[in-house]
Amino acid sequence: MASKAKSGSKAAKAAEKANIDRFPPILKQVPDNQKQRYAALQETFQKRFGTKPAFFARAPGRVNLIGEHVDYCGYSVLPMALQQDIVMAVGPNPDKKLDLVNTGDHYDDFTTDVQHVEIDDTRPHWHQYFLCGYRGVVEGEKISEPVGMNVVTDGTIPARAGLSSSSALVCCAALATMHSNGLKISKVKLATDCMECEKYIGTHGGGMDQAICFLAKEGMAMHIEFHPLCTSDVKIPNGVTFVIASSCVEMNKAAATHCNFRVVETRIAAQVIAKTEGLDWRKYRVLRHVQEALDTPPAEMRAFCNKDIHSNAWTKNELCTFFGLTNEELNEESMSKNTINENVFELHDRARHVYGEAGRTIKFKKTCDEAKKNYEETLGILMDTSHESCRELYKCSVDELDELVEVCRNAGSLGSRLTGAGWGGCVVSMVPTKKLKEFISKVRTDFYSKTPERQAQVDHTLFATKPGPGARIYEPTNL
Ligand code: GLA
Repeated sequence: MASKAKSGSKAAKAAEKANIDRFPPILKQVPDNQKQRYAALQETFQKRFGTKPAFFARAPGRVNLIGEHVDYCGYSVLPMALQQDIVMAVGPNPDKKLDLVNTGDHYDDFTTDVQHVEIDDTRPHWHQYFLCGYRGVVEGEKISEPVGMNVVTDGTIPARAGLSSSSALVCCAALATMHSNGLKISKVKLATDCMECEKYIGTHGGGMDQAICFLAKEGMAMHIEFHPLCTSDVKIPNGVTFVIASSCVEMNKAAATHCNFRVVETRIAAQVIAKTEGLDWRKYRVLRHVQEALDTPPAEMRAFCNKDIHSNAWTKNELCTFFGLTNEELNEESMSKNTINENVFELHDRARHVYGEAGRTIKFKKTCDEAKKNYEETLGILMDTSHESCRELYKCSVDELDELVEVCRNAGSLGSRLTGAGWGGCVVSMVPTKKLKEFISKVRTDFYSKTPERQAQVDHTLFATKPGPGARIYEPTNL
């Protein structure tokens, strides 16, 4: 439609706006600084499949500024999208196959028939994440005859660094599947479907990564609330820059197991408080709902944690006795498939982290909205406190993350914390922009130059970042 109106006319502008606002926003122009990359991807696609791709889909990674491990407890988070992303060149496959190629050296090609998509959660190869997004849309939209797709995938998000490269892959695959099948799905529905379908690979996170991936706006951080999913823009202070630095410890499969176990611990903590407070405990699965039932602000829930949950670890036997359940019933009621062998539950500390962090996230947003004099300092303190809580109560940090947080603070950040799930991955720091150069050089010297392994990674894992746009579709023109 937009192309029929006279270029520059009011009608053309309105049509263009409608085209951009509608999802998928199909954009004609790849950003200038990305043209070379997309052209190379187009060439790879052409070499492999003999035709030009029909379109490109892209989905960004994210950095969470505050609100860690609270989304699956019902609480809000405050991330921003990165410039780094997953891009897929996509075209139809007439043989009804998914023919998947990845430009990364360590990633094998994969082919399957569209009617026989199987996801093996014991072997999380890159293509399994693609298949999650694919199935999310095919099943979510009840597509009985999905089309075949040829896909070349290229990624710039550092992998296993807590910057959500896997979720971006799932989201990008979902977007590519949606567009290939001629569908239009709202961003909120896509985010929700992608959160659900990541469970096929065994990840039971909350909805933060998928929500920011689809709903991000360039230049803005975002406050994301759940149940129902809604967002509001958060303007980050002028004069500061967020810097990401990797601890150079990869988040491996163990992180996913720990993460799934934290989901279970917080669920049981909610049920213990609910039962002790005389609520119908089986109805409660997330800490937020218990807090709302008790009509107490999150930051004041500490009193209930101290009163209702003893601070030493709970054993499974003790929990069975407490709830009056057998081991199997407890597994059924509260555990997940890959956590049924766990026997030690730190309910008190986990719940205290979640309620404290939920309060800090709300305060961070409010502080940004009010933008009072020197408010960056308050934000910095909130970030520092968040890291301490992750380290001490949630136990999702590792020594290298703690070391890096310390280095970043000494290098002049206003606040530094681990970001993402933890157990490795990255630290995010809020740095006065005028001290940026000095900060980066000090972190290079004081952290990265300490080992050859770190030194080898510094160029792509230490960088300043600005809030980028959300997922998009581009026509393959003008390359
Ligand atoms: C992972 C999950 C997210 C969130 C973070 C921790 O990235 O996918 O939903 O829970 O961990 O904040």
